[in-house]
Amino acid sequence: MVIVPETISGRQEAQSPSRMTPPALRLRKPSQPAVTSDSVIRAEGVTIRYADFAAVRDVTIEIPDRQVTAIIGPSGCGKSTFLRAINRMNDFIPSMSISGLLTYRGQDIYGPKSDAVDLRRRIGMVFQKPNPFPKTIFKNVAWGASINGYRGDIHELVERALRRAAIWDEVKDKLNQSAFALSGGQQQRLCIARAIALEPDVLLMDEPCSALDPIATARIEDLIDQLKTHYTVVLVTHNMQQAARVSDLTAFMYMGELIEFDATDKIFTTPSEQRTQDYITGRFG
Ligand SMILES: Nc1ncnc2c1ncn2[C@@H]1O[C@H](COP(=O)(O)OP(=O)(O)OP(=O)(O)O)[C@@H](O)[C@H]1O
Ligand SMILES: [Mg+2]
Repeated sequence: MVIVPETISGRQEAQSPSRMTPPALRLRKPSQPAVTSDSVIRAEGVTIRYADFAAVRDVTIEIPDRQVTAIIGPSGCGKSTFLRAINRMNDFIPSMSISGLLTYRGQDIYGPKSDAVDLRRRIGMVFQKPNPFPKTIFKNVAWGASINGYRGDIHELVERALRRAAIWDEVKDKLNQSAFALSGGQQQRLCIARAIALEPDVLLMDEPCSALDPIATARIEDLIDQLKTHYTVVLVTHNMQQAARVSDLTAFMYMGELIEFDATDKIFTTPSEQRTQDYITGRFG
């Protein structure tokens, strides 16, 4: 069965916030816009194993274009495993095997014609800890373009990426300084700029704010909101307030399974599944 958010399937969305909403929770919007666009990533019965252990079990989901989709769930439930499968980052783990169908814009990600390097250019990734290269700020952003033989104006590309990552004003006068001279929050935005410079279609983010202070986190959250104008964003987060603030859709995973996937305000106010409700109200996890 395909779990399609109610906003996609056109069913009526619940409007009233329920009393289950945690008091600290601040929803970004009173109600989510209807999702009309096609899905970019589609999983059908996807199971991912490390040796004999199934870390992701029979997940079926459609991730829509130009939206922010959050994946939440307790530690170890398979969020990162699923996220990394989307751009084949799990290929580097020898014990990993995957079954089911996972597609990107209709193409089988694990099919014989799939090119993992090309896929990772289209589906960029930002990790938990900022990981700039030991190079200048400029070279960090220009890196992907230069190894791909970019023929356009590299300075223009670097500036555009830094502007989109909302860090241009802070670094424009020190592009030749080491990326390590930046603060953690700035380094994370630099890493987002580096991913954007490859002109991806999808950005996967695995807890991109967990190493950042609240001010840096707020800047990244604002940025994520802007990024969806250009990119499809899939965000793994432990922070439920963050999921509620920045995402349009939320997927709740538990012990490898996708329990519920729906519009974010529905998940955080009137979830359909008891386990989702227990998790968002802090009863476990
Ligand atoms: N390389 C690996 N080899 C073997 N088992 C792994 C590997 N990576 C993850 N696992 C196991 O797979 C399960 C899912 O892990 P995963 O990292 O996807 O969870 P997660 O939901 O991202 O957790 P967290 O919130 O703590 O980051 C866990 O039981 C984990 O121990
Ligand atoms: Mg993880």
